[in-house]
Order: sequence, then C-alpha cells, then structure tokens
Amino acid sequence: MSTPSSAPAASGPVAIIGAGALGTTLARALVANGYAVEAVLSRTAASAEALADRVGAPVADTAYAALPKTVRWVFVCVPDDAIPGVAGALAAVQHPWADTTVAHTSGAVPAQALAPLDAQGAALLGFHPLQTFPEGASPATLSDIVVGLDGDSAAVEAGAAVARRLGARPVRLAAADKARYHAAAALASNGLVALMAAVEAILPLPRTDSAPPPREWVAPLLRQTLHNVLHHGPHGALSGPVARGDEGTIRKHLEVLQDECPDQYPVYTALSAELVRVAVGSGALSEAQGERLAASVRHADDAPEPST
Ligand SMILES: NC(=O)c1ccc[n+]([C@@H]2O[C@H](COP(=O)([O-])OP(=O)(O)OC[C@H]3O[C@@H](n4cnc5c(N)ncnc54)[C@H](OP(=O)(O)O)[C@@H]3O)[C@@H](O)[C@H]2O)c1
Repeated sequence: MSTPSSAPAASGPVAIIGAGALGTTLARALVANGYAVEAVLSRTAASAEALADRVGAPVADTAYAALPKTVRWVFVCVPDDAIPGVAGALAAVQHPWADTTVAHTSGAVPAQALAPLDAQGAALLGFHPLQTFPEGASPATLSDIVVGLDGDSAAVEAGAAVARRLGARPVRLAAADKARYHAAAALASNGLVALMAAVEAILPLPRTDSAPPPREWVAPLLRQTLHNVLHHGPHGALSGPVARGDEGTIRKHLEVLQDECPDQYPVYTALSAELVRVAVGSGALSEAQGERLAASVRHADDAPEPST
C-alpha cells in the first residue's frame, strides 16, 4: 500500500459513481452544501446524464477513464455486490489516487471492499448514511441522521467532516461490526415495511363502504407505538396480550392465523417470542410465565405450510 501524500481533505471536487437512489440524493445534498460534483459516472449513460444535469456536473459518462484528474472525493454508490468490481476498474485508471478519498456507501461491507484502490494509495472509507432513500428522496433526508464510518483514522476523520457538513452525525464503526450494524438498520426500516405488509394482509376487509381504508385503522396505533418506543424504549412501550400474560388471547390469534393467514403466522410467532423476552426482561412477566408463553408461540410442529 502506498502512503497518501497528505491526510485526506474533507472538501474538494467530487465524483459520484452510480446514479441510483442514494447517489442522486447524496449528489444533490453535497451540492446544496457547497461541494462541486465534477462527474457522474454510471452504468448507463441516461442515468449519468440525468444526474449530471441535475447537479451541474460537467462530466457524465459510463467509462471510469472519464474521471476528472481534479476529483478528490469519489463516492461509489452502486449495489454492495458491485463495489469490488467498480474498485478494480477504478484502480486501473490513471488518477492522483494518493490525494483522493474513495468512499462507498454500503452499511454491510467494510471500506476494504475497495481494496484494489488501497494499492494505488487512495484513502478508503465506508460512508453509510443510516437512512432509507427511495427513488426521489429529498437531500434533506440526509440531515439529522447518523452516518456510519469505517476505514483508517484519517479517512474516518475526513468522512466525519463531510457528514457534519451535510448536517449529519458521524459514528465510527469497526469493520467487523458492519454486518451486524446493517442487519439492525435493515430490520428498523425494511422490517417495519414487512411488518406493515403483514398487518395489512391480516386485517379483515371493511364491511361497509364508508369505513376508512384498513391502513388508516392502524395508523394512530402505529404512530403512538413508535412514539412510545422512541421515547421510552421497548421495555417502556410494552402493552398487549404478551405483556399481560393473556394466553387465551394469544391462542386465539394463533388459531385464526393458522387457519386464515398461514403466510403471516411465522411473523406473529417470531415477533411474539421476541416480545416475551422483552416482557421477562422488564419484569412484566415472571420467568415461568415467559417460558410457558414462549412454548405456546413456538409451536414449530403445528406451524402451517406457507402458501406458494
Ligand atoms: N437506497 C437506500 O436506502 C440506501 C441507504 C443507505 C445506503 N445505501 C447504499 O447505497 C448503495 C446504492 O444503493 P441504491 O439504493 O442507491 O441502489 P440503486 O438505486 O439500485 O442504484 C445503484 C446504481 O448503481 C449503478 N450500478 C448497478 N450495478 C452496477 C454495476 N455492476 N457496476 C456499476 N454500476 C452499477 C446503477 O446505475 P445505472 O442507473 O446507470 O444502471 C444504479 O443507478 C448501496 O451500497 C446501498 O447499500 C442505500
């Protein structure tokens, strides 16, 4: 590994690689906070050109050789599995790599996924905005969030300065913790989406035309629960049949789900088992009650086959 010519700077011209959901939001946020995006390189010309137009980048291309020599920050915003290939292709390009920080934005893989660029002397950084960015997300969704950073100390320090400039809070991660960190993040976001899909699948259809749509039935419950969890933690937000040890009600739930909603049955049992752990941990249930309830929601042998 060659040594960077100096500690990586927190500012400097930027290139975005991968003009997808995050690449677009990040590029727009960087420009809004005073960075110059000099190039957008993407797999397809149309994506690169659309984002370059949007952020006033003079270069839009599909070839990594088009990377301007002036660029000092490269943000690789491609799917996680594509990161090593992109790094390998970039490493073959002549560039003042020793003066350049290359960051990828994956939460699950370490900065070392960019290893081919290490040999060229680039500073490597994992720069993971802990937020969900559907297509079209506003640049404001990058502020007031945590950005998980990993890499060597100088790169992490420079990445922290970039994160702060975007209005975010930098947090240093150990490379070995990233998969676990990202599993938790995925559960917080995608898990909630899956949970809501299960809730909507289980809710009975309204019996009258004038009833609000089922999602609205649960919306206040969802908002209040989120508020309680965020302010008081899972222990402080406990309520419901598991917390009360209401075995009869839980049995009814299991029976109706088994008969009518077999696909959602394992969602209910897995979450209830976790809830039993929370209830025992908070003292709402005794160890003995917890064991009994856990056994009744485990029921692995009775679990229905999910429909195909
Ligand atoms: N979206 C989120 O909520 C979010 C949040 C935090 C972190 N991240 C991370 O950000 C990164 C990008 O995620 P995303 O959601 O923005 O993905 P995305 O919307 O699918 O965009 C990825 C972009 O990468 C380009 N690309 C795809 N395969 C490629 C390849 N083999 N080589 C080169 N370029 C390729 C595509 O370019 P073309 O359009 O030109 O085909 C696409 O626009 C991932 O590492 C992800 O983990 C995403």
